[in-house]
Amino acid sequence: MTILALETSCDETSAAVVRDGKILSNTVSSQIKLHEEYGGVVPELAAREHLKNLLPVTRAALQDAGVSPAQLDAVAATQGPGLGIALLIGFKAAQAVAFALHKPFLGINHHEAHLYSPWIAGTPPVADFANFQPNVSLIVSGGHTLLVLVASELNHRVLGGTIDDAAGECFDKTGKLMGLGYPAGPLIDKLSELGRPDAYDFPRPLLHDANDDFSFSGLKTSVRYFIRDHPELLDDRQKVCDLCASVQAAIVEVLVKKTLRAAKREDVRGVTASGGVTCNRALRNELERACKKNGFALRLAEKNLCTDNAAMIGVLAERKLLANAPLAPLDEEIKPGWVLA
Ligand code: KG4
Ligand code: ZN
Repeated sequence: MTILALETSCDETSAAVVRDGKILSNTVSSQIKLHEEYGGVVPELAAREHLKNLLPVTRAALQDAGVSPAQLDAVAATQGPGLGIALLIGFKAAQAVAFALHKPFLGINHHEAHLYSPWIAGTPPVADFANFQPNVSLIVSGGHTLLVLVASELNHRVLGGTIDDAAGECFDKTGKLMGLGYPAGPLIDKLSELGRPDAYDFPRPLLHDANDDFSFSGLKTSVRYFIRDHPELLDDRQKVCDLCASVQAAIVEVLVKKTLRAAKREDVRGVTASGGVTCNRALRNELERACKKNGFALRLAEKNLCTDNAAMIGVLAERKLLANAPLAPLDEEIKPGWVLA
């Protein structure tokens, strides 16, 4: 089965062609530079940029894959959650392509696509899924932080999520307070390599609460007050690195300990992680260490599939088609607030 997928939920315009679980092409045009000067994504600008880039990106994806529109068996797009006017561009374009080609169309939940993205890599993909279920899965991005129990493929239940800021947002907002660019997550990761994680003690919110929820806004506020009281730190490169490493350590400790606690309680076989923050080296290393110590198999999304991309949308769409999931009617609308259940 050959599927064209489009993803425009935030600030990446992406098109991919997947066939039989394999990625034939995955073209991503990032808008980071455009939004950098505003310190965050400006929805109107994002939508205009998607409009400008969607056609060339889609053409490139088809060309890279060596696939013509006539060879497509289905078309998929991110339906939500995301920025409404950004989602609209890819979703409506994909529906139009499906309509013109008389092919099935699927609207995909962005978080569900992240959830299964650790299974994409490998040949054949998802081959060892059955040996790995049930598992607890951490989805950690700029917009969301979710812990999900995956009983079997396409059969999952959200255990908890953030009650305020997402982990990626915490990286980005604390980085902004330190004067780092947007998004600050990758730079904090890099600078942390040169810093001491125990240099400054920041709170680990909800770490000891019995539930599977997260909260990162208190941590951000505590960094804000710390910088307000010690502004001179920002003139010292080593201290900025120490600050980065200390903030990162607080975020990573909460993510890893709560994920592992849920995995033990649910008595699962494995742990997976996906979403942009899963690029973070400390998070990858700590999850690896903790899973090894506690006897859980670990599967992390490949770094290029952690951040937003259309390949994960296409792969999930194909799995759904194979499982006879219902198709979306061609006049269905976007769902900007679509919560993963
Ligand atoms: O999944 P994603 O591309 O978009 C959303 O769906 O939100 O995630 C983007 C988020 C941003 O907050 C970014 O700072 C964070 O992922 N991120 C990182 C790293 N790479 C990306 N955070 C920490 N360390 C990284 N290496
Ligand atoms: Zn995402």
